[in-house]
Amino acid sequence: MKTNVLPAHATGALDTAARCLRGGGLAALPTETVYGLAADATNGEAVARVFEAKGRPSFNPLIAHVCDLDMAGTIARFEKAAERLAERFWPGPLTLVLDSAAGSSVHPLVRAGLPTVAVRMPRGPVADVARRLGRPIAAPSANRSGRVSATSAAHVADGLSGRIDLILDGGPCELGLESTILKPVGDRLVLLRPGALTAEEIEDATGLALSMPEDGIQAPGQMQSHYAPHARLRLNAQFAEPGEHFIAFGPVDPSSTRNAASLSKLSETSDLREAASRLFEVLAALDDPAIERIAVAPVPMAGLGIAINDRLARAAAPR
Ligand code: TXA
Ligand code: MG
Repeated sequence: MKTNVLPAHATGALDTAARCLRGGGLAALPTETVYGLAADATNGEAVARVFEAKGRPSFNPLIAHVCDLDMAGTIARFEKAAERLAERFWPGPLTLVLDSAAGSSVHPLVRAGLPTVAVRMPRGPVADVARRLGRPIAAPSANRSGRVSATSAAHVADGLSGRIDLILDGGPCELGLESTILKPVGDRLVLLRPGALTAEEIEDATGLALSMPEDGIQAPGQMQSHYAPHARLRLNAQFAEPGEHFIAFGPVDPSSTRNAASLSKLSETSDLREAASRLFEVLAALDDPAIERIAVAPVPMAGLGIAINDRLARAAAPR
């Protein structure tokens, strides 16, 4: 794949980026903090491509970037404290983790199946592109997994050239440090990630002291129980035993599902992107106290399959 690089201020650059995302493509876009690797947050396969391009071995939830408070209100529930923070600090380097709104258009893969969503209104072209797209933009930092966040277009190209469609070069990022992530919990503000907006600024503006997360909340992508359905999962299953709910990957051999209580398909064509985009919906649909046993067909341990298997292994972990 050829990666186009355009100056962010070039005529039509924002339209080009919006068109790229609308078509399911990936564009690295500058923000005031770091460059984001942007995809249409409502398009599961585009979001799966983000994990693929970054080479992430697991599905960490992504931040949904919005252009205004109206768009934010369609994807997250804002209580008083969150509303005040958004009004005071947006657009800016603050991300709020809030309950996902009913009917949100954000694809479940963005939230990695969590009931909450991380929302932020950044300064710079991401908000302009989201406005043109008319949808929120999912964007992790635009670096390969395990590397530091990219703060210049050259740094983005170093890691991602040939793996994404477009880079908008907006010069070096103003702040060069990721956004601060806060989760309002009752009348407390939990600091999930220190970042460009300081604790003092937040405390001054709200009169609330920040609290530190309890064990396990820091790394939401790593929380096992969060992703575990009620049922026991049997992985790498070639067929369903009587009463098992079967999750298939690839073409379904009818004899393998003869005894299945139900059949869900991650991808009939063995497409890992499609499987990634279906995974959390399928697990959520089977997360029912009445369902006790699930068998999952083998998913190849390559590319996105590594993150899919990581998630399945967590869901299957004894607890
Ligand atoms: O400045 C930034 O925040 C940049 C720019 C591009 O906006 N983005 C960024 O994204 O740093 P990323 O994916 O590298 O980091 C997002 C963090 C992850 O640590 C993720 O676990 C956390 O946000 N996160 C996302 N959704 C969450 C949720 N529902 N609950 C808790 N943490 C969440
Ligand atoms: Mg990152």
